[in-house]
Amino acid sequence: MDFLDCFAPLTVEEARALREKLHGQGKKLVFTNGCFDLLHAGHVRYLQQARELGDALLVGLNSDASVRELKGPTRPVNHEVDRAEVLSALRAVDGVVIFHDKRATGLIDAIQPHVYAKGGDYTPESLDPGERAALDRAGTEIQILSLVPGRSTTRILQRVQAPQDTSAFEEQRPLRLAVLGSGKGSNLRALIQAIESKALFAQIVAAFSDVENSAFLRIAREAGVPAQHLNPGDHPRRFDLEAQHELVSRLREAEVEVIVLAGFMRILKSPVFDAFEGRIVNIHPSLLPDYKGATAVRDALAAGDSETGCTVHLVTPEIDSGRILAQARVPILPGDDEASLHARIQEQEHRLLPQVLASWRQLQLNEIAVVSPCG
Ligand code: GAR
Repeated sequence: MDFLDCFAPLTVEEARALREKLHGQGKKLVFTNGCFDLLHAGHVRYLQQARELGDALLVGLNSDASVRELKGPTRPVNHEVDRAEVLSALRAVDGVVIFHDKRATGLIDAIQPHVYAKGGDYTPESLDPGERAALDRAGTEIQILSLVPGRSTTRILQRVQAPQDTSAFEEQRPLRLAVLGSGKGSNLRALIQAIESKALFAQIVAAFSDVENSAFLRIAREAGVPAQHLNPGDHPRRFDLEAQHELVSRLREAEVEVIVLAGFMRILKSPVFDAFEGRIVNIHPSLLPDYKGATAVRDALAAGDSETGCTVHLVTPEIDSGRILAQARVPILPGDDEASLHARIQEQEHRLLPQVLASWRQLQLNEIAVVSPCG
């Protein structure tokens, strides 16, 4: 017996029969399609989500010839029947049918699934026009599912080819952040929202504030972030050295990769710099190097400037002087007072800080400063 005879994917007729059987029972067939070459956790989670959209999941699998057309002569790595067998063994998958075109248009026409699942950044409007037309003809409901960040067959292949390059693993782990703040916590909230919306692939593993009853700590706790008050000592701006040593040990315990200062109004010293050099980021409400210090918004207004902004920068022992990672400009309008101007600056902060952290690993690799234009 030839080894390829061990497993037989569904024929188009069998797939259509599955659809008819479900339809007769008032049930829904979900259909998705792809190459599924080297299966990874992203595929598994995507297929589980797709399966939950109906009562059975049918996968249209690109044949080897069509994968070569789509991805080049070195792909697929695995033979189409092997790929079909591995896919079929997944709990979420009820059947696999191999198709030979680049697009699944013909298969959709033949099977007429009830639901079509597609992964990634698509919208129903940006689907392949042929596939979209076939779905419309069949009256199929279209569902776009988000992909799991950092997982792809291409990354697996890169890792195999360059095993010393650990960035493929790094990209698959959320960035472990600690956020420190003293005030309202609106930047913390923006980070939490960016993580929830998947714009930022990170986890806030700890939040610390020097202000015991701050909104910052409340927001952290409401979001389920482990949040602690740090006793900074008696001075209004300084931060006791002993408390800084204590902070470092808590940060290490939480395996923090990057410290984010989001309105933290105390001065960090060598215990923290020594342990986290190059891994501390601050958001500051001016276009640095202008208006360093604690009264940046007031200073820009008092100077009569026509614009100010915000800066995300690395924190070094010299206050507000580390490498600039990104800036956004904000116009100063007639009639602005400190509160109205600060509110508009913060709108930009809430966009800029998550954006910089989302590209943190690339920044580390490339050593490139990102400077964002106005708005
Ligand atoms: C932010 O606007 C930040 O730029 C500023 O504190 C505010 C905190 O707001 N930081 C500094 O002035 C640092 N020198 P938030 O608590 O609502 O995030």
